[in-house]
Amino acid sequence: MAHTKSHAFLLSGKKRPNQDEFDGDDLFLSKKSLLLSPAVTYGDDPVAALAAARHEFGEHGGVNMSIEASATFTVMEPDTMRRMFSGELGPDRDFFIYSRHFNPTVLNLGRQMAALEGTEAAYCTASGMSAISSVLLQLCSSGGHVVASRALYGGTHALLSHFLPRACNITTTFVEIGDVEMVKNAIVEGKTKVFYFESMSNPTLTVANIPELSRIAHEKGVMVVVDNTFAPVVLSPARLGADVVVHSISKFISGGADIIAGAVCGPASLVNSMMDLHQGTLMLLGPTMNAKVAFELSGRIPHLGLRMKEHCHRAMEFATRMKKLGLKVNYPGLEDHPQHELLKSMANKDYGYGALLCLDMETEERANRLMQHLQNFTQFGLMAVSLGYYETLMSVSGSSTSSEMSAEEKKLAGISPGLIRMSVGYIGTLEQKWSQFEKALLRMQDSGFTYKNSVSAVTK
Ligand SMILES: Cc1ncc(COP(=O)(O)O)c(C=O)c1O
Repeated sequence: MAHTKSHAFLLSGKKRPNQDEFDGDDLFLSKKSLLLSPAVTYGDDPVAALAAARHEFGEHGGVNMSIEASATFTVMEPDTMRRMFSGELGPDRDFFIYSRHFNPTVLNLGRQMAALEGTEAAYCTASGMSAISSVLLQLCSSGGHVVASRALYGGTHALLSHFLPRACNITTTFVEIGDVEMVKNAIVEGKTKVFYFESMSNPTLTVANIPELSRIAHEKGVMVVVDNTFAPVVLSPARLGADVVVHSISKFISGGADIIAGAVCGPASLVNSMMDLHQGTLMLLGPTMNAKVAFELSGRIPHLGLRMKEHCHRAMEFATRMKKLGLKVNYPGLEDHPQHELLKSMANKDYGYGALLCLDMETEERANRLMQHLQNFTQFGLMAVSLGYYETLMSVSGSSTSSEMSAEEKKLAGISPGLIRMSVGYIGTLEQKWSQFEKALLRMQDSGFTYKNSVSAVTK
C-alpha cells in the first residue's frame, strides 16, 4: 500500500478505525463538527491547489480511487449507528450512513471542487440548478429576500422571479451589479439573506466586481453566492471575497457534454447544514449525485486547467480576429470590453479571459443564418445550448437559454435578438477552425451581409 506523504495526502481507502482509534481523539474537537471539517487551504492558484489536495487512492493501492457504489453502509457495533445519526461520527472519520447523505466518492469530488475554488468544503449535486436551488433554500426561509443580478442564466432567473416567490415566499430584487448604489439600496438589512450573481454573466459576459460586491454585502450581513460556471480556473470568487461558489459542472468542469452535475463550494458549516438530517436541503430534497458519475468527473478535473487555457486562447484569438473584421463581438479579453481591466485585476494568472464570446448579428434571422452556415456548410461548430465542450457550441440566447426572460428583462440584461453565444472549443487546429469561420462569413456576404473589412480583403 502506498505511504502517506503529508496530512493532506492521507489515504482513506482504509478500513473502519477501531473504537479506541476514535475515542478521545483530539484531532476532532467538537462532536457536532464531525460531519465535515475545514479542508487544508493551498494558496491562490486553483491548479496548484488541486495538485496539493489530498489524493484519494484505490482500495488496493490503485492510483485512482475506488468507486463506493453502495447506497448503504454497515457498522461493526449497533451503537455506532446511533453515534452517526447524532452527528458524532461522520465522513471525516470514514463513517457513512447512506448515499443520499455523504458518499465517499462524491465527497472526494467535493474535495477537488473545494481545492479548485479555495473553499473549506464542497459537495456535488445532480445538476447545476439543484446546487443553486439547494443553496438558496438553505440560506433563505419563507419571507426571505434575495438581491440578484439582472444578468443571469435564464433558468436561475426563472427560479428567482417565478418559482421561489410562488412556492416558498422568497422574493428577489434584480439589480444592475455595476451600479453600486442600486445594489446598496436593494439590500434590506435583516431581510435580505443572499446576494447572488454570476462571476461572468450568461450570456452577456458582464464581469462582476467580486471584491467590491462582497464587501458591500458583508457590511449589511448578507451572504454572497456566486455562480462561477462560465469561468472555472479563470476566476476564483471565494478567493476574492465571496462566501459560496456554485457551479454547473455540466459545462467546462465535465468538458464532455455528457453529464449533468453541479456543486456547492463554501464554508464547512454551510455544507454540513445542507446535509442536516432535519433541515438540510441536500439531505431532504435529495439532489444526489451518483457515485459512478462522481468518479468519472474526478478524472476530468486534473486536466481542467489545461483545457481552460486552450479554450481561452482560442476565444481570445477568434474574438480579436472577428473584431478586426468589423464584426460586433463582445469578449472580456478584448480591451474595449467594459470590464476588461477589472477582469485582468481579478483573474488567476496565465489562464486567459474566458472561453465564451458573443457575436451580435442584430437580427435573429441573420444570427440563425450564420449559425446554419457555420454548422452545416463549414463544420465550424454545433448549434447547441450549453458550453465547455471541445467542439464550439453556438446558440441564439434570446430565443433559447434566456427565453424564460421577458422582452423587457432581456433588454435590461443587454441580450439583443441577434446575439450568438459561442462557447469556443479546442478541437482541430486554430487556423483550420478560423478558415471555417471565414468561409461561412463569405456565404453571408454573398447574401448581402456587410461589415467593415470583408473576409476576402483580410485573408489576402
Ligand atoms: C451560468 C449557469 N448556471 C447554472 C446553469 C444550470 O446548470 P445545469 O444545467 O447543470 O443544471 C446553467 C446552465 O446552462 C448556466 O449556464
